[in-house]
Amino acid sequence: GYISNTAKSTSDTEMHEPKSKSSIAILGCGDVGSTLAYTLILNPICNEVILVDPKTALLEAQVRDLNDATYRGNTGTKVRAGTHKDAGQADIVVITAGAKQKPGESRLSLLSRNLHILRSIFSSMQPINPDTILLLVANPVDILTYFARKLSGLPESQVLGTGTSLDSARLRGVLAQKCEVAPNSIDAYVLGEHGDSQFIAWSSIHIGTTPLTLALPPTILTPQFRHEIAAHTRGAAAAIIASKGCTAYGIGNIAASICKYILYDIRCVRPISFYQPELGCSLSMPAVLGRKGVVRAMPVNLDEKEQEELKACAENLRGIIEGAES
Ligand code: LAC
Repeated sequence: GYISNTAKSTSDTEMHEPKSKSSIAILGCGDVGSTLAYTLILNPICNEVILVDPKTALLEAQVRDLNDATYRGNTGTKVRAGTHKDAGQADIVVITAGAKQKPGESRLSLLSRNLHILRSIFSSMQPINPDTILLLVANPVDILTYFARKLSGLPESQVLGTGTSLDSARLRGVLAQKCEVAPNSIDAYVLGEHGDSQFIAWSSIHIGTTPLTLALPPTILTPQFRHEIAAHTRGAAAAIIASKGCTAYGIGNIAASICKYILYDIRCVRPISFYQPELGCSLSMPAVLGRKGVVRAMPVNLDEKEQEELKACAENLRGIIEGAES
């Protein structure tokens, strides 16, 4: 039959154009940095991905391998190696650089090594484009987000961490199985630390417009059930790391989606880590994400138990920050 040449082609050789004149720098091109780069290319989200890593042989190899993924011709994204100075001029700078957890190790044990790396990154990245959005991915992400704000000199709304956005996705995943609905029909947030003091905002979980307490009978929604779900979410990364030595796809996809919300000013509400003036630390709370980073914080309605958990979480993080500052 006749096919109009104005009909939208569905051929897989069709070029998908990313947002014009947009660049995302990724510091650290290990498992997480390279997975993020690959996700940015395939979507595609930005014109240019700039990779930075002191391991020059690995860096060159990642750039070549990632560019090989562009030659099929279905993405307008280019990948190149750059310096910290180049990175500081990008629209978004994603920091994945640093040590990663060994099996059985907590995220917090990475602090002194990764804070040291963060300081050296910022001293070589200056002067930073004043409109850049910083997205911290390296762990412990909440503590590094706090220090990145101080080290970068950028406004607090422009310094964010992936925080509990991944834990919240994991929570939606496990609830979706239990409730037999699609994960994106579930509104459920893990808040606080991307780590052991995180908590689930149970009182605000909805499936469609139905509160969880109506969606599941009390015989299922028991304290034991809540405990098991919370343990699953808290321990998800450790369980993966025990067998494969890292997590990459989950965090790569979450970080890419945050980049997209920022670059395209999408205004999605996501739990991400950012500075909480009244708590004196950075931790995850729901925020509206747009071109300026955290466009605004969303007020949350926590019950008494959740408020206590938030307080304990903030005290825990404050203690760690004070330890690192002294
Ligand atoms: C995880 C890493 C990103 O939770 O902390 O997979």
